[in-house]
Amino acid sequence: MMMDLVIEKGLIVTGAGVFEGDVGIRGEKIAAVASTGMFPEAASRIDASGMYVLPGAIDTHAHIEEPFQGCVPEEDWTQATRAAARGGTTSVFNFVIQEKGRALADLIQTHKARAGRLSLIDFNFHGVFTDFSDLDAATAEIPRLFDLGVTSVKQFMIYSREGLATDDWALYNIMREVSAQGGIVGVHAENCAIGEGLTARLAGMGRTRATDWPRAKPPFVEAEAAQRAAMIAEFAQANLYIVHTSTRDAVQIIGGFRARGLPVFLETCPHYLTFTEERLSAPDGKYQVVSPPLRRREDVDALWKALAEGTISIVGSDHNAYGRKDKDPGYERSGFMGVANGQPGILEILAILHSEGVRNGRISLPRMVEVSSTNAAKMFGIYPQKGTIAPGSDADLVIFDPRKEATLGSNLYEAADTSFYEGMRVTGFPVATLVRGRVVVRGGELLAGPGSGRFVAAAVRPGMYAGIR
Ligand code: URP
Ligand code: ZN
Ligand code: ZN
Repeated sequence: MMMDLVIEKGLIVTGAGVFEGDVGIRGEKIAAVASTGMFPEAASRIDASGMYVLPGAIDTHAHIEEPFQGCVPEEDWTQATRAAARGGTTSVFNFVIQEKGRALADLIQTHKARAGRLSLIDFNFHGVFTDFSDLDAATAEIPRLFDLGVTSVKQFMIYSREGLATDDWALYNIMREVSAQGGIVGVHAENCAIGEGLTARLAGMGRTRATDWPRAKPPFVEAEAAQRAAMIAEFAQANLYIVHTSTRDAVQIIGGFRARGLPVFLETCPHYLTFTEERLSAPDGKYQVVSPPLRRREDVDALWKALAEGTISIVGSDHNAYGRKDKDPGYERSGFMGVANGQPGILEILAILHSEGVRNGRISLPRMVEVSSTNAAKMFGIYPQKGTIAPGSDADLVIFDPRKEATLGSNLYEAADTSFYEGMRVTGFPVATLVRGRVVVRGGELLAGPGSGRFVAAAVRPGMYAGIR
């Protein structure tokens, strides 16, 4: 069979294993995968000798173009997704936060149109309800989200000052309706009253340095909310996804729910796998104020163990690009109270999983693929179109050089001027990224333009959450 493109002689990695061979691509799809030399006819070829060929990463957690806590990111969809593609991410789930009084589904349509004009990678959304003044109206909207191809909702359990916090009754009702549609509810799990109470008390004592931030939201704040969300989900017979998990305690608690076979899943982020709260003592520590805060060494170790064992199923970035121009004066004025929570990270998922995880023997290569791609595709209804290397799947592929050295930091971004990873050296980095058969980045050069990314519709099907680990 004549191929448009063959990626040959690479080590092809899927969740199922690693084998040397060739990937044959026709149009936007993978046509066949075979041992080397089986596709003699091809319009073009890429030699991947010595490289890994991975399914593109799917970032489950991004805040592209999202205003938050008084800051508006300067980075737009094009700049964010150029960074994503450089880092080997080929699809992203971005949040769409409801404007009170406005239909969430309408806003998703607006974001879909904008991302369609600007994105270089494929995209979908998690809806976020914020208007609980008429719960019936909110839940009545949920089937419309599914009609649009959005099968997940994420709710904040904290951020009352920002008007985002969801109380337990609203959460329960949203869970019931999303699960009736066969979808999944994500939560930002932090105890609102105690997290915000401790934060205010510290602020009242003038203790608002970056190094004080972990005391504002100690592990209890996450663990209690995670447990409560899981109990509400069990009662509501709902599928639950707890985002950006940062603590050993939450892992232990949710591990118990998972051991009972309940559809409760955990996400963590590269920064929680890399840094402890000591990162907040650095000269640029004020930029590292994120929620939940960076934690202790025992938490980092517990997250890696949970990732390897299947208690944590997904690594998403929690990408935010709020800049120094907002954070500097805010921190000057009121310490951590004045800093929009969040840091960029859309580029580093594969680099960190490989350099910190695979190279240090904490996870295997197939596990790196599962937690960066396959599980996300399954959880959010785009598998097997995305998330694997198989005939019929989209040719979303990363050619990853396991020996390539790179220095991470804001220098790798166009419009983010702070980073967790400033100056951090990693071994292993993507050298080419393809989205639907089209080379978007190769050797650092960008070969696709704004609008080459496309909305990927999600759909639910029976049993889709079974077996994700
Ligand atoms: O610090 C964070 N995570 N900022 C973004 C908003 C959120 O909570 O995900
Ligand atoms: Zn969050
Ligand atoms: Zn987030």
